[in-house]
Amino acid sequence: MIKGVNSAPTKASLPLKETSLKEVSLKKASPKKASAQDALILEKQQIAVSELSTNPNSHITVLLDEAVQALTIKADGVYVDGTFGRGGHSRKILEQLGANGRLIAFDRDLKAVESSKEMTDPRFSMVHSHFAGMQAKLAEMGVLKVDGILLDLGISSPQIDEASRGFSFRYDAPLDMRMDQSSGQTAADFLATVTEQYLGEVIKNYGEERFAKQIARAVITERNDGRAITTTGQLAKVVAGAVTRFEPGQNPATRTFQALRIYVNQELEELSLTMPQCLALLAPKGRLAVISFHSLEDRIVKQFIRDQANRDDLPANFPVRAADLPQPKLVNIGKAIKPSAKEIKLNPRSRSAVLRVAERTNIA
Ligand SMILES: C[S@@+](CC[C@H](N)C(=O)[O-])C[C@H]1O[C@@H](n2cnc3c(N)ncnc32)[C@H](O)[C@@H]1O
Repeated sequence: MIKGVNSAPTKASLPLKETSLKEVSLKKASPKKASAQDALILEKQQIAVSELSTNPNSHITVLLDEAVQALTIKADGVYVDGTFGRGGHSRKILEQLGANGRLIAFDRDLKAVESSKEMTDPRFSMVHSHFAGMQAKLAEMGVLKVDGILLDLGISSPQIDEASRGFSFRYDAPLDMRMDQSSGQTAADFLATVTEQYLGEVIKNYGEERFAKQIARAVITERNDGRAITTTGQLAKVVAGAVTRFEPGQNPATRTFQALRIYVNQELEELSLTMPQCLALLAPKGRLAVISFHSLEDRIVKQFIRDQANRDDLPANFPVRAADLPQPKLVNIGKAIKPSAKEIKLNPRSRSAVLRVAERTNIA
């Protein structure tokens, strides 16, 4: 059993070149001028969300039943939870596994790994690694095929709610934002050296923020004036000063914080590198279930499944017959699943979740 294997990604292993930032079209939002009433609504929503997690170590698992059901657990199967968090999905998977089943969980966050130590179930193993290292780590464990893989993307409530992690504009704390605090560059490190243009691209592409240029300019001006941005509070203030209109109910810094978090943790690269590994790892009839929390992630998952799935959507006059094309390696299972109104009411953080499911065919 591998416990606490340390293999965090480095910037060198997952390079993100300035030129690799893809253009993402901005969604048409209808921003309006910030009013005192907006600020009040926002504050109330933030209090509601923060009250949900009074215990900084708790995480309310999103789409728990739906995601585990989607895996169609076989009693003696081998399953992977790529995003252990606080183990909500993992525990449910273990409940459905028989004595000979096996669950291997991954998380790049040392606190998530630490929290797994209370799970003494012999069918369970925990690996400290980014999930893009999944195939290599499993091979080291002698596991070449699995019956199901779950990815519940993004960050957990403990990560958001622990001020010192630097993910939230609700607290003033060092601007860290690394899921794996044992390696890599913090958001503050990034802001200390980034160019204005590159920062603008990160905020625009990863935050889908229409005021990206203005925000980047404000951040770099602060830095040039001898006030390098090193805390969440400082960043939130600078962003608020640069954004003249914001979406109702949303803190003006929301999109910038999202963008920096995605950049610092190379979240989209991780996902893009992991999807083909899932395909290679899944045994025939094996299931892949991915929960995304924003359109950038969901687009990668949807596109990958579509590319590997049915080829029946060829135009009628397409000069090649579908049967002559490489045969599908995945079958898309059902439509995207979203949380019920009841779940969203109980856990507002689930509101943007989308679960996509695919099944591996027997095509090599
Ligand atoms: C939304 S939480 C998962 C919650 C979990 N399903 C539960 O029920 O407790 C996401 C977790 O995935 C981890 N994570 C995100 N991206 C990762 C990556 N690329 N590699 C490994 N872990 C990752 C985060 O550290 C976080 O603990």
